[in-house]
Amino acid sequence: MSYLQQFVALAEAKNQSIAVSLKNTLEEGGERISVLGENILERYQGIVDGDIEVLVQAYATMVMRFNKLQLKYEISGSYPKQGFDQVKEAVYDNMPDMTSYMLGLVCSQFAWSNHFRLWCFFEDKFLNRLSSVQNILEFAPGHGHFGLSTLQKYPNAQLIGIDISPASVKMSTRIATSFDHTNANYRQQDAMALEENYFGKFDAVICGELLEHVPEPDRILASVHKALTPGGVAYVTAAITAAAPDHIYEFTTVSEVTNMVTASGLEIIDQISESTRPLTDQAKGAPTTIAMIVTKG
Ligand SMILES: C[S@@+](CC[C@H](N)C(=O)[O-])C[C@H]1O[C@@H](n2cnc3c(N)ncnc32)[C@H](O)[C@@H]1O
Repeated sequence: MSYLQQFVALAEAKNQSIAVSLKNTLEEGGERISVLGENILERYQGIVDGDIEVLVQAYATMVMRFNKLQLKYEISGSYPKQGFDQVKEAVYDNMPDMTSYMLGLVCSQFAWSNHFRLWCFFEDKFLNRLSSVQNILEFAPGHGHFGLSTLQKYPNAQLIGIDISPASVKMSTRIATSFDHTNANYRQQDAMALEENYFGKFDAVICGELLEHVPEPDRILASVHKALTPGGVAYVTAAITAAAPDHIYEFTTVSEVTNMVTASGLEIIDQISESTRPLTDQAKGAPTTIAMIVTKG
């Protein structure tokens, strides 16, 4: 049985509604989603000593937690009032919870159709254009899947990942080591205050799902701008009207994000918005993610 088949069978045994939506997503995504799912599960089963059930449990826990928070958000109309330090202590510094959260999140890449479509955008529009890439900076790798997939395709490049969470640094380092990516280096750092020795050094930057995690996302965009070489290219995403335990900056429309990106001096050369529900005129409450390919212009 493949890892993906095991994952589906265990999801069916655990939670029918999660299993039904998972099977629909897999059917919709065809062969490409199966390849992605197998690749992710092969990587991350190493973190849980081969016990796929732990990955299913992490995914189910994350889905239930997100659904509850989203419902509260849609009723109240705003994210819970919490500051960055509070989130850091409760989520990023909480080793077991953060590890489980990142394992659940990486599984959503193949289990949620909107995340799968964003993955296809990442591969088609970002990965495929990096043929001569040398230095990659990944902001907030979390689970590390995006940066490590970039290294898998371009094994001669060097990757630095900076994340505020020790759990993220540990997980990404462990996967990189077990897949012999000796050119990946993860550090516990705050992306809001980028070290000067990173300025102008990276021809590729990955910044997935970070902007909504900080009180001043424009400072992250300034860091992306500073890190890029002239002509360098970045993949940047942001979650909009999507509640999560660690989302503190509420973007309410796609244009709020794109305006902030262009105000930071970055040029958007491609973009896609994906929602968990049909996007009808930016209805508040439909969790949406915008992914962009940007350059320094
Ligand atoms: C939702 S995860 C994103 C994981 C992955 N990049 C993705 O797109 O799926 C958010 C990550 O942002 C990190 N993070 C939050 N604030 C940060 C900051 N100020 N500097 C660096 N990392 C930060 C968290 O520790 C977490 O790993």
